[in-house]
Amino acid sequence: FQPKPLAGRRVLLTAGPTFERIDAVRGITNSSSGKMGFAIARAAWEAGAEVVIVAGETAQATPPGCRRINVLSAQEMLTAVEQEVDDADIFIAVAAVADYYVLNPSEQKIKKDAHILTLELAPNPDILARIATRPQPPFCVGFAAESENLLEYAEAKRKRKHLPLLAANLVQQAMGADDNEVILLDDNGEHRLPRGLKLDVARKLIGHVAQLYVHGKTR
Ligand code: C5P
Repeated sequence: FQPKPLAGRRVLLTAGPTFERIDAVRGITNSSSGKMGFAIARAAWEAGAEVVIVAGETAQATPPGCRRINVLSAQEMLTAVEQEVDDADIFIAVAAVADYYVLNPSEQKIKKDAHILTLELAPNPDILARIATRPQPPFCVGFAAESENLLEYAEAKRKRKHLPLLAANLVQQAMGADDNEVILLDDNGEHRLPRGLKLDVARKLIGHVAQLYVHGKTR
């Protein structure tokens, strides 16, 4: 038993939703409380890591010992992650990143009238996939929240994004809740974590990351 298995390691995390501006007061976002990401940040710090959280808009308090960078949009999140990632040993992407951003957002509040309003949306960069396919990537961990076919979709996502580890959960069970049930998928197969408080699940996840990363069972 090692109380601080991530001592001396640097962990970079994304957490919370992104917000894509439509105009001065409106935007497109995802529902994400940020609870799971912040719980993982806390668990990583407890495990001895130096932790940086790149956070979208969320009411979560910064856990002790963690450095926090606040961002709004996916593009800002990517920029912050790219600035920090060279120093990171482990990258854990927990954020619910909006799939699209609004082309040409309005500086002013859009006034309503009787016409149909059309928004043009363009795809956002996949932050996790970009980091995971770098020449010298940190150990990358992703999340997959699915509403059906959990294991099949999650394993496909793990392969597509080139991840050594992915945590899969059902959206219906996780969103906004204080507890969660997660299945970890890695090169050795699936590992079911017992349902529990997000902080307990986070501690188990960090324990698994430490085993894979510290014992060199990356790939
Ligand atoms: O493809 P999907 O959005 O389901 O993938 C989820 C995983 O990828 C999460 O770990 C999420 O943080 C990350 N992701 C990302 N950038 C995106 C979309 C997802 O980092 N644009």
